[in-house]
Amino acid sequence: MSSEPTTLNKPPTEQVQDLFERIAPVYDQLNDWLSLGLHRVWKQMAVKWSGAKPGDHCLDLCCGSGDLALELARRVRPGGQVWGVDFASAQLAIARQRHQQPSNVNLSISWMLGDVLNLPFDDDRFDAATIGYGLRNVENISHCLQELYRVLRPQAKAAVLDFHRPDWPWMQTFQQCYLEWVVVPISQQMGYGPDYAYLWPSLLRFPQGKAQVALAKAAGFQSAIHYPIAGGTMGVLVVTK
Ligand SMILES: C[S@@+](CC[C@H](N)C(=O)[O-])C[C@H]1O[C@@H](n2cnc3c(N)ncnc32)[C@H](O)[C@@H]1O
Repeated sequence: MSSEPTTLNKPPTEQVQDLFERIAPVYDQLNDWLSLGLHRVWKQMAVKWSGAKPGDHCLDLCCGSGDLALELARRVRPGGQVWGVDFASAQLAIARQRHQQPSNVNLSISWMLGDVLNLPFDDDRFDAATIGYGLRNVENISHCLQELYRVLRPQAKAAVLDFHRPDWPWMQTFQQCYLEWVVVPISQQMGYGPDYAYLWPSLLRFPQGKAQVALAKAAGFQSAIHYPIAGGTMGVLVVTK
């Protein structure tokens, strides 16, 4: 097992976009397998901690294939509306298909192809927001948090769910082994091994809880708290404008 990431440099935006376009056909299935379905629970926690309530207008950034946006839309019924933004059209195509399923078709969601670093919304527009596994992947984390801050109404909250590195050394070893010895080989079986090899280096580059809090405060948020979950292997950053 290599202890160092293959590269500490962030891949260029186009490379990230290509990656998510390419893995779209297997993305949801692999999420379910590799997290043993737990990503659904963590996403429900993020939706709850975003403070979204019936009637709210909410934003899900880096919405991918849409499960967090769908969950958010369930929470803002009746009368609410969700906007899901992502720059990978293949992911959005899957989100639109899921939205057409009978259990989802009545949910109010607008799917938007766009860059979360340059949101097409006015200032102070949204009552709550979520980001699931997106902040780690954007080219400029500070800029993303600044855009999030800009479009939220004063006092509105956002919950940002992503991987995190646990404090305990044995959990760190478990996490690295799991990502390199379980996730990569399973995705390899499905023909996407090199694509999933990005996970571990992206986690090593990603600021940890305290650093995320500092970045959120620098972006203007009056409050920012990071909650480690799943034994510290995941975390939710809750910010309040
Ligand atoms: C790991 S996926 C997460 C998808 C979904 N939120 C989830 O929780 O399963 C990260 C998503 O971020 C999107 N993304 C990364 N940078 C972006 C950007 N600058 N603008 C829009 N989407 C971006 C990718 O296209 C990808 O769909």
